[in-house]
Amino acid sequence: MAKTVVVLGTQWGDEGKGKIVDSLTERADLVVRFQGGNNAGHTVMVDDKEIILHLIPSGILHEDKLCLMGNGLVINPKALLEEMKELTDRGIRLNNNLKISKNAHLIMPYHLAIEKEKEAQKGKKKIGTTLRGIGPAYVDKMARIGIRVVDLLYPDVLREKIEANLTELNPVLSKVYGAREFDTEEVFREYMEYAEKLMPFIDDTDIIVNEAIDEGKKVLFEGAQGTLLDIDHGTYPYVTSSSPTAGGVCTGAGVGPTKINTILGVVKAYTTRVGSGPFPTEIKGPFGDEIRERGGEYGATTGRPRRCGWLDFVALRHAVRINGLTGLIITKLDVLDGIETLRVCTAYRYEGELITEFPKALNILEQCEPVYEEIEGWTESTRGINDFNKLPENARRYLKHIEDTLGVPVDIISTGKKRDDIIILKEHFE
Ligand code: IMP
Repeated sequence: MAKTVVVLGTQWGDEGKGKIVDSLTERADLVVRFQGGNNAGHTVMVDDKEIILHLIPSGILHEDKLCLMGNGLVINPKALLEEMKELTDRGIRLNNNLKISKNAHLIMPYHLAIEKEKEAQKGKKKIGTTLRGIGPAYVDKMARIGIRVVDLLYPDVLREKIEANLTELNPVLSKVYGAREFDTEEVFREYMEYAEKLMPFIDDTDIIVNEAIDEGKKVLFEGAQGTLLDIDHGTYPYVTSSSPTAGGVCTGAGVGPTKINTILGVVKAYTTRVGSGPFPTEIKGPFGDEIRERGGEYGATTGRPRRCGWLDFVALRHAVRINGLTGLIITKLDVLDGIETLRVCTAYRYEGELITEFPKALNILEQCEPVYEEIEGWTESTRGINDFNKLPENARRYLKHIEDTLGVPVDIISTGKKRDDIIILKEHFE
C-alpha cells in the first residue's frame, strides 16, 4: 500500500481531478498542491452543493486533514483570502489545517495588468490564458525578481522589491501599452494588509511534508491543469507556466523522487481543451456541442465553453511516459452513455505519413489529422454505478481497451458528479 500518491491530469486539465482528490483524501492525512495558482478550478460536490476551489487543496473539505500549498505555487493573496472566506462562511474551519509555503511566489496586481495587455496585443495568436497573472508571476520567478510569500514577513524587503519591479515595469505599462502605472506605496500597503491576515498560515511546508512522510503518514499530491499544459511537455506555447507533470511534485513540494510511491493519471473518457492551441481530436459542430452540454463542459474558473473531442491515445501515451504513471483514473464515463459509436484516436496522419508519437513541433501538430478506431458504445446508463460488474459490457470493453492500449491499469472510474458515483478497483491508501 502506498503512502504517497500523486493525482495529476493527463490531458489539457479539467479531467475531474477535484472529485478524485476529494475521494482519496478520505484516507489521506495530508493533501499538498505543488504548482499553478488560481487558474485552476476544482469542482467538488458536497451534500448536493457544488464547491469550486481554485487555490486551496480540495482536501480542506475534510475535517482533520492538513492541506499544504507548496513552493511551486503562485499565490494571489487577495484571491486566497476570498477563497478562505468562502470556506469559513460555509462553516469550514481554517486554522492549523492550512499551511502556505514561504517559498511560494506571489501574484502581484501588475502581473494581471501586464498579462491583459500582452494577451490583447497577441490578437489571433493569444494563448487564451485565464488572465489571473499566472504567466507573469512565473516569469518574475524565473527572472529572479519574484516576490515570495516569505517577503510578506519582512516589510522593508517587500517594499524594496515592489519598488524595484515597478521601476522597470511602469514605463512598459504606460509607454508601450498606454496602461496605468502602479504606485509602490499603494501596492505595498495592500500587501501588508494581506500579510497580517495570512501570517498564521505561512510555514516551511517542505519540512512539514517530509516529516509527515518519514512518520509514515499518507500524503496525497494534488495536481492542477494537465500534462498537455505543462511548460516543458505540453503544447508549447499554448500551455500554462508551471509543471503539472510528476516531476513538478518534487520541485513544487520539495519532496525527493524516491519518496513518491504511486502516480495516478486522471483521464477523462473523452478530451476537452479550453483556450487556444492545437487539439487534433476536436469535434467541431453540433456533436461537439452536444458533448459539451452533456458533460457540462464550461470552465470552472472562467466559465468559458470547453472544446470537446474524442479520446486521443497518441497524447495519452505521451502522458503515461512523461509521468511514469502507475495507474489510471477514468472520469465522466457516464457522459458517453447512449452514444452509438465511439471513436478513439490511435495515430495521426501528417502529409500522408502515420505518426504514433506526440509531435514536438506545434506547426506539425496543428496539421495532424486523427486516425480513428471505432468502438461500439452502450445504450444503458452508467451514472452512479459503483460496481464494475454492473457496467454495461461495452463500457467495460471501452475501459479495457484504454488499459490495454496504454499498458497501465485502470484503478478508479468516476460515473457521475456526486461523491459516491465512483468505482474503486484498487485502494491506494490503507
Ligand atoms: P494560464 O494558466 O492562465 O496562463 O493559461 C494558460 C493556458 O492554460 C490556457 O489555455 C488556459 O485555458 C489553460 N488553463 C489554465 N488553467 C487551467 C485549468 O485549470 N483547466 C484547464 N485549462 C487551464
